[in-house]
Amino acid sequence: MKITLSVLKADIGSIGGHITPSQALVNEVKNFVQENGKNLIIDLYISFTGDDIAILCTHERGILDEKIHKLAWDAFIAGTAVAKKQGLYGAGQDLLKDAFSGNIKGMGPAVAEIEFEERPNEPFIFFAADKTDPGAYNLPFYLAFADPMYCAGLILSPKMSDGYTFHIIDVEYTEKDKIIELNAPEELYDIAALLRDNERYVIESIYSRSTGNQALSISTTRLHNIAGKYTGKDDPVALVRVQGEFPATGEVLGPFQIGHYVAGFMRGSHIGPLMPCKLNSTISFFDGPPVVTGAAFSVREGKFTEPADVFDHPYWDYIRTQVSEKATAIRRQGFSGAAMLPYSELEYGGIVEKLEKLNKKFKVKD
Ligand code: F6R
Ligand code: MG
Ligand code: MG
Repeated sequence: MKITLSVLKADIGSIGGHITPSQALVNEVKNFVQENGKNLIIDLYISFTGDDIAILCTHERGILDEKIHKLAWDAFIAGTAVAKKQGLYGAGQDLLKDAFSGNIKGMGPAVAEIEFEERPNEPFIFFAADKTDPGAYNLPFYLAFADPMYCAGLILSPKMSDGYTFHIIDVEYTEKDKIIELNAPEELYDIAALLRDNERYVIESIYSRSTGNQALSISTTRLHNIAGKYTGKDDPVALVRVQGEFPATGEVLGPFQIGHYVAGFMRGSHIGPLMPCKLNSTISFFDGPPVVTGAAFSVREGKFTEPADVFDHPYWDYIRTQVSEKATAIRRQGFSGAAMLPYSELEYGGIVEKLEKLNKKFKVKD
């Protein structure tokens, strides 16, 4: 059976600042999709990560389907009404356009989708990150799909030895999607040369070279490119099919032990370590730290099992302690140097006016 996995995610308001959506808001979005999606979707899972609420669903309509995207858009509008009624902070903040036109891409919410012929046993992981941008996934998925130091299957499994094709998007080009396809392992150095720049080049999807099947899809929306100003961080979602011709679940999770430094954190303007957290985690220290959650599912004829929480294990408690130490270490240096993002990322925020004013006060001395 050919199915489509779609996840559509938005920040449409949260309690007490940017911490977590209210239960009423989550319920409203869930009820709306259940009621209005009866003849469209096969199954549904609603969750939140930090201040973002995600609609994960299965259907047979393919990617970028107008009806599925409109359903999610309308659910976010309905949720925003509840957020406003409750006085939630940032109600409707990610809904950057007024009128729906075709699909939700470029309108604010994040979207990741994969259409595939279901395997007899079809496991996948749904990742959601908050207080960061899509480039946060560059390193972990590069390591999981291209580096035998992290992914043993690249050496041990004949199904994986042909490697993977990376589709990498230049997010600074906003007219259309500008994408390069590069093959691992032959073009590893080219892939690395692009992926080192998390703010510009972002993994959009990955395909198995032995079967041509799609393994991964990431939302690549950069909100400031749509809004022209800072309106919140992009908070990317990802869908990753695992096992068999793809890396094992544990191989995909492995690189998240690094807690690598990513862009985001307070006011989307800092560098902080990415902390792997339990499902439905909230946000706290310095509006962060940047977090990622993972829900693993099996799916059969489009029907989900219950989610298995991939970061809910004693091992990850140990990692979370280490990542907290990294967060504390970089926060000690406040605004200085590497702790805050470079001007190119901040230019969408208020600092532009301040620097323009100060620039006028500079005097060139003889
Ligand atoms: C980051 C984020 C928060 C806000 C911060 C200030 O994505 O959402 O860190 O930027 O709390 O929010 P405002 O300006 O709305 O008071
Ligand atoms: Mg968010
Ligand atoms: Mg937010």
